Amino acid sequence: MTIEVVNTTPIEGQKPGTSGLRKKTRVFMQPTYLENFVQATFNAIGGAKGKCFVVGGDGRFLNRPAIQTILKMAAANGAAKVIVGQNGLLSTPAASHLIRQNQTDGGLILSASHNPGGIDQDFGVKFNTANGGPAPEGVTDSIYLQTQSLDHYSILQAPDVDLGTTGTQAIGTMQVDIVDPVTDYQALMETLFDFDKIRALFISGFTIRFDAMHAVTGPYATAILQDALGAPSGSVVNAIPLEDFGGGHPDPNPVWAKEIIDLMMSDTAPDFGAASDGDGDRNMVLGRGIYVTPSDSLAVLAANAHLAPGYRDGIAGVARSMPTSLASDRVAAKLGINSYETPTGWKFFGNLLDAGMVTLCGEESAGTGSNHVREKDGLWAVLLWLNILAERRESVTGVLTDHWQIYGRDYYSRHDYEAVPSDAANQLMSELRSKLSDLAGQSFAGLNIVSADEFSYLDPVDGSVSENQGVRINFTGDARAVLRLSGTGTEGATLRVYLEQFAPCGANHFKDPQDVLEKVRNATSIIIGIERHTGRTNPDVMT
Ligand code: G1P
Ligand code: ZN
Repeated sequence: MTIEVVNTTPIEGQKPGTSGLRKKTRVFMQPTYLENFVQATFNAIGGAKGKCFVVGGDGRFLNRPAIQTILKMAAANGAAKVIVGQNGLLSTPAASHLIRQNQTDGGLILSASHNPGGIDQDFGVKFNTANGGPAPEGVTDSIYLQTQSLDHYSILQAPDVDLGTTGTQAIGTMQVDIVDPVTDYQALMETLFDFDKIRALFISGFTIRFDAMHAVTGPYATAILQDALGAPSGSVVNAIPLEDFGGGHPDPNPVWAKEIIDLMMSDTAPDFGAASDGDGDRNMVLGRGIYVTPSDSLAVLAANAHLAPGYRDGIAGVARSMPTSLASDRVAAKLGINSYETPTGWKFFGNLLDAGMVTLCGEESAGTGSNHVREKDGLWAVLLWLNILAERRESVTGVLTDHWQIYGRDYYSRHDYEAVPSDAANQLMSELRSKLSDLAGQSFAGLNIVSADEFSYLDPVDGSVSENQGVRINFTGDARAVLRLSGTGTEGATLRVYLEQFAPCGANHFKDPQDVLEKVRNATSIIIGIERHTGRTNPDVMT
């Protein structure tokens, strides 16, 4: 029986323009809260009748009950079929692939990405469209509008689906296919990478440690790296997805993935280290004794992608988010291919990928991916690195050193000031914006400003314009600072300060990045009045 439930809990605070709803888990547990978002999503896409969707999540607390609710609502709304990952698990890139492979009408992905999980932590839902990518702003805005006016939702009263058993089931008249979360994704990886070459690399004694951080990539990394590619068992650690990610933040950065960083900097380091986040779209890559910044990783992958079968014919272009370093631009220039600078957020790459204008994309925030799906993909980045190392038979340090000799090095670091009172953060940004046009020609802490502006993006495919995407300050001597407020934080505001200093070919490329960046950091602190506005002198996190 379908019941129509009168709406009681309006969804407040989903920011228009954000690609999903991310809240405290207990907020999602309020009666009708999740239901309202799901119904709003169905309404916003013209209803679910006759449609097919993919549903899965990163396994955090509430994942499975939320999937049961979504299935019953999809059935009540007349959906024809839903494909669900076994036990409710699907990494974000694997969900993107299933949406595309099965030509579904989209999918619902349950995750709060790298945020912690548990009843007192975070949960999230996001809708991806039929191209497999996060819903574009037009769709998220209409979901938001729906949440404001919704007065009822529909749900089928039916027993729960058995999420643990693969195969076809039914809920009402809707078909539910429970699929192994790894199989199709692994098959896709086998088309892109030379598994035999990578297997031979492991046979030669090459060692790896992959930290799945008790999150969704555990089963994927175990199946692919250990079972298929032959890395010794124990190479993948923290491989069982847990509802609270073992109490940590499943965020592959120097703070939360300290364990693997410490290992890679120690005498017992394996040849290669990597980690992914809660939902498997981010990556961290390390060599023995060396951390690869995501910006450098994108550049190295772009320069070497042709070594992997899936990219043998070369790449059409590279896109990077505005705060990502200029390293990938240098590769694109040398290869004579397109390069694009987009606002922060993976959804801005979708049009460029769909139009075939770029093949690789990346963000400084540990996101790298290609046209194989429409999300960033942590394990994909690891496999491309492995394929490159298997071909070149060099260490990570060797590959990086060689890269910097050819292109120069873009020293890079992001400084985050977290949980800043929103008023103070907004005041800082508005003061900065008001003096932007006067900054060029001025000098701060010994650095001259060449130009300063606010980044605005004109999408070359659909002509849409996204304004106020962050402030860029260029200094003489090839230094750059970028400033923006995070759009994903859940507590106060997070000020992100991105610092960059180029060292050309022939320079010393092995200095401490924080030392190299000190000048641009000091100049930027003065320009924006960081201490005056926030009372802080040091960031909470430096990546
Ligand atoms: C952060 C990252 C951004 C990424 C987003 C979603 O957003 O900086 O690159 O796309 O998470 O993973 P922010 O908090 O900076 O708005
Ligand atoms: Zn993520």
